[in-house]
Amino acid sequence: MVGKLRESFKRIFKEEADSVYFAPGRVNLIGEHTDYNGGNVFPCALTIGTYGAARKREDGLVRVYSENFPEMGIIEFDIRDIRNRKEHDWANYPKGVIYAFNKAGYQFSHGFEASFMGNIPNGAGLSSSASIEVLTALLLKEIYGLKTEMIDMVKMSKLAENEFIGVNCGIMDQFAIGMGKKDHAILLDTNTLEYRYAPILLKDASIIIANTNKRRGLADSKYNERRSQCEEALRLLQTRLDIIALGELSEEEFLANADLIEDPVIYRRARHAVFENVRTLKAVRALESHDLTEFGRLMYMSHESLRDDYEVTGVELDTLVELASKVPGVIGSRMTGAGFGGCTVSIVQNDGVEGFIDQVGRAYRDRIGHDADFYVVNVGDGAHRIG
Ligand code: GLA
Repeated sequence: MVGKLRESFKRIFKEEADSVYFAPGRVNLIGEHTDYNGGNVFPCALTIGTYGAARKREDGLVRVYSENFPEMGIIEFDIRDIRNRKEHDWANYPKGVIYAFNKAGYQFSHGFEASFMGNIPNGAGLSSSASIEVLTALLLKEIYGLKTEMIDMVKMSKLAENEFIGVNCGIMDQFAIGMGKKDHAILLDTNTLEYRYAPILLKDASIIIANTNKRRGLADSKYNERRSQCEEALRLLQTRLDIIALGELSEEEFLANADLIEDPVIYRRARHAVFENVRTLKAVRALESHDLTEFGRLMYMSHESLRDDYEVTGVELDTLVELASKVPGVIGSRMTGAGFGGCTVSIVQNDGVEGFIDQVGRAYRDRIGHDADFYVVNVGDGAHRIG
């Protein structure tokens, strides 16, 4: 890959790249829609991701190119004039990161050239956008010799997404991509940002991602709506409880104070946030005590809660999970990411993987009318320099 990237860079910019970087995609195993509620998440970094080769320039120009969008050619802008421009399309992600660095007090007078290449399916909910953001942050750190730590790059990448791109996401994706560790998932408390790594002890099972191939149409507006519903629930609970996030509540505390939330929709949204958060801790304990069956059961419960209480699944995701649950060797399955399309994540015994892809694939096509895609994925390290 390093060779391919360097070649691409040379072909486009007619010079040798100084350095090459990689930032993974991520999959969340459990703990969905909890990261903006101060709850726990349990994601891991993948070995698929985004690659970038870069070289510092003497003038103030930034020139970026993506092998994934060759038709857009080289996109060019001045590093001292960072504005979101619709026609710059994907390049608004790296730009957003420069914006976030500027906001943190870093001013750049030299520009750079960078060529990108990614193998994360776009719009599938595996965080291709957070991946290019963290990659850009690392590239800026390295080519300008900055002292910034990975956790700050994670925070700046999130800020880029929130303020520059305009998606009000939590910190899970950027955190998993920056801080991931091979063969480990990260238990992250999004309230305190305390985290620890848990080895993914799957014995003879694998992680399979199934893509519904449904574009996440209204995802952003519905995502923001869920966020405000949770904020509304929190506001109501705060009239009696001294809390700053739903993630602080146990199931019992929540139920004992549920009379404060009259609206049944707001109540269900909050119930998901609280129960999913507790479920995440239970799931990590199950994994650590080698109880994969329990881990799988909690994955199914997570999906049900996202379907019934949080209402972010939809027929494609529900169909994939339902079909998966009928295949021998499947330990657990659930939607992953924001929902409204995107992917499911399943844990499947190795000797059942082929049957899974075949049976779920065929039945999905029959019912939904188009194909799903399947990826047997590996858990890799967070963003790093590769050449
Ligand atoms: C998206 C967001 C994350 C998180 C998930 C839902 O991936 O970017 O911050 O909220 O949805 O768990």
